[in-house]
Amino acid sequence: MYRTKTCGELRLTNKGQEVTLAGWVQRIRKMGGMTFVDLRDRYGITQLVFNEAVDAALCEKANKLGREYVIQATGVVEERSSKNLHLPTGEIEIIVSGLNILNSALTPPFTIEDETDGGDDLRMKYRYLDLRRNVVRANLELRHRMAFEVRRYLSEQGFLEVETPVLVNSTPEGARDFVVPSRMNPGQFYALPQSPQTLKQLLMVSGFDRYFQIVKCFRDEDLRADRQPEFTQIDCEMSFVEQEDILSLFEGMAKHLFKTIRGIEDNAPFVRMTWQDAMRQYGSDKPDLRFGMKFVELDFLKGHGFPVFDEAAYIGGICAEGAGSYTRKQMDALTDFVKRPQVGAKGLVYARIELDGNVKSSVDKFYSQETLQELKAAFDAKPGDAILILSGDDAMKTRKQLNELRLEMGNQLGLRDKNKFACLWVVDFPLFEWDEETQRYYAMHHPFTSPKPEDIPLLDTDPGAVRANAYDMVINGVEVGGGSIRIHDSALQDKMFRLLGFTEERAQERFGFLMNAFKYGAPPHGGLAYGLDRWVSLFAGLDSIRDCIAFPKNNSGRDVMLDAPSVIDDEQLKELKLIIDTKD
Ligand code: AMO
Repeated sequence: MYRTKTCGELRLTNKGQEVTLAGWVQRIRKMGGMTFVDLRDRYGITQLVFNEAVDAALCEKANKLGREYVIQATGVVEERSSKNLHLPTGEIEIIVSGLNILNSALTPPFTIEDETDGGDDLRMKYRYLDLRRNVVRANLELRHRMAFEVRRYLSEQGFLEVETPVLVNSTPEGARDFVVPSRMNPGQFYALPQSPQTLKQLLMVSGFDRYFQIVKCFRDEDLRADRQPEFTQIDCEMSFVEQEDILSLFEGMAKHLFKTIRGIEDNAPFVRMTWQDAMRQYGSDKPDLRFGMKFVELDFLKGHGFPVFDEAAYIGGICAEGAGSYTRKQMDALTDFVKRPQVGAKGLVYARIELDGNVKSSVDKFYSQETLQELKAAFDAKPGDAILILSGDDAMKTRKQLNELRLEMGNQLGLRDKNKFACLWVVDFPLFEWDEETQRYYAMHHPFTSPKPEDIPLLDTDPGAVRANAYDMVINGVEVGGGSIRIHDSALQDKMFRLLGFTEERAQERFGFLMNAFKYGAPPHGGLAYGLDRWVSLFAGLDSIRDCIAFPKNNSGRDVMLDAPSVIDDEQLKELKLIIDTKD
């Protein structure tokens, strides 16, 4: 037996017991004739003590240990004279009588501590060492618990977990596919699923009624803090349901997770907001509702001789509580912020509410105090507040810029507390998105999303105005999940494909299997998928989903530890009948 106890479980109640522990050497300290070794395993840290006066040879052996050596130690549990109350095991130590070195270790390239000296790249290259750090391991433990609670909740609701294949054809989410060449079918490729969307719909046709799967999905798209090329979905589908059934069941799942994982019990229903309202009031389809700063449209600022506003299609602002104390320098920095190419505004107009209630703005020469008071009233602004205004010739673009400014102010004013959660459903997404470049409609969600029945006539007259039975769950400004009621009628599905610019042949080629299946009795159905990585990182308070993935990719889509992707040898290429052409 390698061990009788773990490094996290001994307490004063174990005093006097002889135990054997095994683990990694975290730290060695020599003090006079004593050597102290912190022994670490997944469960914690226990202090080992070697006394030269009692056993000089054993102490000598301990003195030769290095960081991260793997050892086994036997000894008696004793009460510590100087207790460490920060450690669960800090009241005891082991007076060691036997030491066995199971493996030596090279000095790790960075310290295995919560606050490590290792940079990002180095930690990714030696991810297996990074994973020894408590903070990283804790994220994976949380991930495990969340996946477990998801399985428990959904199983209790009658969902069956069904695995679907990874070598498939293109799925409809609209990102680029990762493809895999087929040796047995030269010149042909599998695509890795961007999600199991079509397969879960087929499972509904098969009568499975309630399906879920915690499943890897693959998308070749530009990476961001909340995007990985392979990520995990909690993918779900249900039959004989309407949107309301799905929202209430999955709101229940969210509440179950908040309760079991974060200890937060709140029975208030989630806010519901239409996409239209989200865009108008927050300039985003995933508003962060931890704080206010709702947009106010300011058309009354037109016609006062300020050319920027007079010519604008949209003028809107936010009221930042307390930002009235910002210095000129801070306001200039905000102006620089909105002018950054990532935001793209031309400039920022601001107005401060002074202590006497007067309003001083950066465009005072165009506006009377009376109009500025009207501005103050529009926001119900108080002394010490600042009103920040953007304008532009495209309302949607300007709202998105104002959203960036709102989030920045939320950060600057400390309103985005990671321990506070604001959940909502965004509903009634548009069915289509118009793309200027290609001059055609794209499905905002995917082509199987059902239009709202009352909007179906608009498909012929004004497709851009058709709303979908589609919904996203948003927590703290993060889209944690999204889904829709699906089309289960092949004629309507046909019409969708037509509007999306598919010819009949192309639609048959890509999705014929599903459309044919629908001819054999498809139940009304719908579902959604959560991003597990996003949800775990929200609960863990992480800035990037990478930190809750055991072996993530970097921003160039590389696994620097495995050195993937990599070239394959000529023999493999030949077998696959592939020729590599690196010319542009
Ligand atoms: P969607 O494309 O909205 O829907 O994806 C569902 C959820 O998956 C997460 N997500 C990601 N997480 C990390 N990295 C990525 N690259 C990434 N892309 C998406 C998000 C998102 O809300 N088949 C549909 C679902 C359905 O209709 O049932 C789908 O995949 O949290």
